[in-house]
Amino acid sequence: MKKKEILSLENIVFAYPNYSVFEGLSIQIHEGEWVAIVGANGSGKTTLAKILSGLIQVEKGTFKITDELVTTDNFVELRKKVGMVFQNPDDQFVGVTVRDDIAFGLENHQLSREIMQERIQEYATKVEIIDFLDREPHALSGGQKQRVAIASVLALEPQIMIFDESTSMLDPHARQEVMDVVQTLHIDDQKTILTITHDLEEALLADRMIVLHDGKIVADAPPLEIFSDETLDLTAYRLQLPFYIAVSKALKQAGKISKLYHTKEGLVSALCNR
Ligand SMILES: Nc1ncnc2c1ncn2[C@@H]1O[C@H](COP(=O)(O)OP(=O)(O)O)[C@@H](O)[C@H]1O
Ligand SMILES: [Mg+2]
Repeated sequence: MKKKEILSLENIVFAYPNYSVFEGLSIQIHEGEWVAIVGANGSGKTTLAKILSGLIQVEKGTFKITDELVTTDNFVELRKKVGMVFQNPDDQFVGVTVRDDIAFGLENHQLSREIMQERIQEYATKVEIIDFLDREPHALSGGQKQRVAIASVLALEPQIMIFDESTSMLDPHARQEVMDVVQTLHIDDQKTILTITHDLEEALLADRMIVLHDGKIVADAPPLEIFSDETLDLTAYRLQLPFYIAVSKALKQAGKISKLYHTKEGLVSALCNR
């Protein structure tokens, strides 16, 4: 069964005062999909995230969220369907404690105190920050901070979650913590997820990968399909291949293996069984 479209951009045009970013971009995202949007610095990823989350509006073309056309009149309402987590968690805190921080976003949603408390408990549990609810967000580790930022967005119960380089300032351990949360949201909650990154290792986890270059889509397919495409050189777009993909590409070119592997185990077993 074909999944329902949840976000749709048709031929959109967007420019900053001195710089044109998109000159006719089209993208369709389906319900429950995890799409990684990758591209080098300046390729338009954050601008795209801002359009999709209703922070900025397109000049031309159409943008639909769950089949509804986004217009100047309804975009404030429609953007509640899209939650965005940014790169630097420190920029996202408003509360004195973690609990206040999650509550802050909920205060504009006319919820009763009980429901607010329930939501705080539910989402703090989901991202495993329940023990920090009374701590100051700034005093937490990088991974903990980013999980607080995620809980604050999740508590608003958006249908779509966008992560804009949300792991790029984190150490490998914290990065894994955040990716574990993303995976839980994808698998257990079937949320529609967009992870924006220049890290192709991270993009490997997604169902689909869209490669942006200078505001244009140069590839759109499952990550392994894109990596296996001989006609596409991602390094030309200033992207670094995932480690085991790069190694297996070199081994394949040397005639040692016949396809690409993205894990150490896969590659080792292919080499041992030759
Ligand atoms: N506020 C702005 N004003 C003018 N140009 C901008 C602004 N924000 C981004 N740009 C330019 O738009 C292009 C795309 O930027 P951005 O969407 O931030 O890319 P990415 O997130 O992929 O690094 C870049 O060339 C950038 O310099
Ligand atoms: Mg960016």
